[in-house]
Amino acid sequence: MLHDLKAVRASSTDISSYLLEQEQKSMLRFLTCGSVDDGKSTLIGRLLYDTKLIFEDQLAALERDSRKHGTNGSDIDFALLVDGLEAEREQGITIDVAYRFFATPKRKFIVADTPGHEQYTRNMATGASTADLAIVLVDARKGILPQTRRHSFIASLLGIRHILLAVNKIDLVDYDQTVFESIARDFLSFAGSLGFATVVPIPVSARYGENVITLSENMPWYAGPTMIEHLETVPVDTDVLHKPFRLPVQYVNRPNLDFRGFAGTIAAGRVAVGDEVVAAKSGRSSRVKRIVTANGDIPSAREGQAVTVVLEDEIEVSRGNILVAPDARPQVADQFAANLVWFDEHPLMPGRSYILRTETDQAHARVTELKHRVNINNFAHEAAKSLELNEVGVCNISVQSPVAFDNFADNRQTGAFVLIDRVTNATVGAGMILHPLRRAANIHWQALDVNKGARAELKHQKPAVLWFTGLSGSGKSTIANLLERKLHAVGRHTYILDGDNVRHGLNRDLGFTEEDRVENIRRVGEVARLMVDAGLIVLVSFISPFRAERQMARELLGEGEFVEIFVDTPFEECARRDPKGLYERALKGEIRNFTGVDSPYEAPENADVHLETAGRSAEELADLLEGWLHERGYI
Ligand code: ADX
Repeated sequence: MLHDLKAVRASSTDISSYLLEQEQKSMLRFLTCGSVDDGKSTLIGRLLYDTKLIFEDQLAALERDSRKHGTNGSDIDFALLVDGLEAEREQGITIDVAYRFFATPKRKFIVADTPGHEQYTRNMATGASTADLAIVLVDARKGILPQTRRHSFIASLLGIRHILLAVNKIDLVDYDQTVFESIARDFLSFAGSLGFATVVPIPVSARYGENVITLSENMPWYAGPTMIEHLETVPVDTDVLHKPFRLPVQYVNRPNLDFRGFAGTIAAGRVAVGDEVVAAKSGRSSRVKRIVTANGDIPSAREGQAVTVVLEDEIEVSRGNILVAPDARPQVADQFAANLVWFDEHPLMPGRSYILRTETDQAHARVTELKHRVNINNFAHEAAKSLELNEVGVCNISVQSPVAFDNFADNRQTGAFVLIDRVTNATVGAGMILHPLRRAANIHWQALDVNKGARAELKHQKPAVLWFTGLSGSGKSTIANLLERKLHAVGRHTYILDGDNVRHGLNRDLGFTEEDRVENIRRVGEVARLMVDAGLIVLVSFISPFRAERQMARELLGEGEFVEIFVDTPFEECARRDPKGLYERALKGEIRNFTGVDSPYEAPENADVHLETAGRSAEELADLLEGWLHERGYI
């Protein structure tokens, strides 16, 4: 019999030792991958329900025995059994993934239940950061699908070491051994190169519970384990305990002047009072004075524990830093290479600024280079300009300020990050860091004696960027041109960066796809910044259709140096004017990706100046702008 209920004995010492045993049982974290109709929820239901029955049988026996012997009355605190699991729940890092807990007499389990069907890759990537095993579900009638390959590949990227290939709905192919064996062979032939420690195929019927908890009589040819047997015995990774100490600092706890503690959950290794630790980003070291927990001070702590560490010395440590072992420090860099899984409808835009979030740190970041996309059918590296929903690639990332991290291969927690869209706030990608890039480490800002202030003073002006955004034909360039004439006439030093002109030189290589427009504006933003540094008033006239890039340009400049001017001319009016005949051609379908036709324009929500052009001449509008600049001390 699979579960030996006799393990439950009747004396009080046995009951407490039983409870202790439950607490000390190993824990397996796993997730399930498969398409919606492969039977994922039926299978999870089976596992939860059938194992619960076993568990409850056992609890009933325990309760009966304890009552008979009058030890704890009938009030056995079964909560003890699940305490560890509750703690896990509290640490749950993601919002999209529900973690389900269950236990058998041999082991505790956490399954990342990832409900969204379309969003599967996202849930997988965010829910699996600590999973030991993935159940890859395959419908016996359909065999290996592209989805199966994709999920298995992503599982390997996520550092999942064990695969249980559940060939489900075996009842619908008459329990045919050859079907099962051919699917298992197919799977092994491609998964062989993915580096899993174990791949165990099991024929199951989730619907009838066959080979899930109990062996099926309908498959006498199958000699392997049931699913639960395998889940109970597959080795779990206890490596993190033996890895170098890492405490990503969640927050600095400073209730009064006498106490300053660094709170977080230990991501790897152990620490004890008296140990030397180093703040990763600064390299400054100190010794551990106290380790404080919700239940008071403790002499030492280990991976998985939530603690507040107090140090002997006042060293600078803020949220996002990592306290680490002095002899095994993590990387600290602002550029690195990473595997990236993309799971937003809207493709990755290299050059765009996203929020990069690690376990506890956060910074603006850009993908500076998409090195390749991985074809999940043959794992070939393909050239690509962007990553679409569910695609995977390798890229270089540049972060605005240095972050502390480990390579993902060394630590799955401190080596992972997610990217967040700055406009929608959605989590759009997950990354696994391959290695830091040292290329920027040897380049420092050169301190120059003649600086922006000195140059501006010589020109008697306040340098700024006047950023005109609006549809093609809205009048941006006409107004900018008139305004520049006025500024020039009163002795201001100016320059116009105009879309059509810059696209003849610096940005000659760029077209009108979204990726290219992002890069177009990124470069123009950088050039405008240099010109402001040179002390100029720069008039930028680009459609610049995306909020994210206008925001990025704003952030390159100092407070008050970026003036966003929305030249608001309705689409119909621009199309009627059609100065270059482009609207006519775009509406006939002769030009692709035309702004306002088949490419979006995201109107500014808080422009500094909102110019409604209807019924006003360009002269009038330029006058109006001049007045605005004058009032605010720009000229
Ligand atoms: S942006 O979107 O990347 O900011 P930019 O301002 O540089 O565009 O260039 C816009 C100019 O390119 C337009 O004024 C128009 O003359 C020309 N153009 C050619 N094709 C397109 C297109 N598909 N969409 C918009 N403008 C186009």
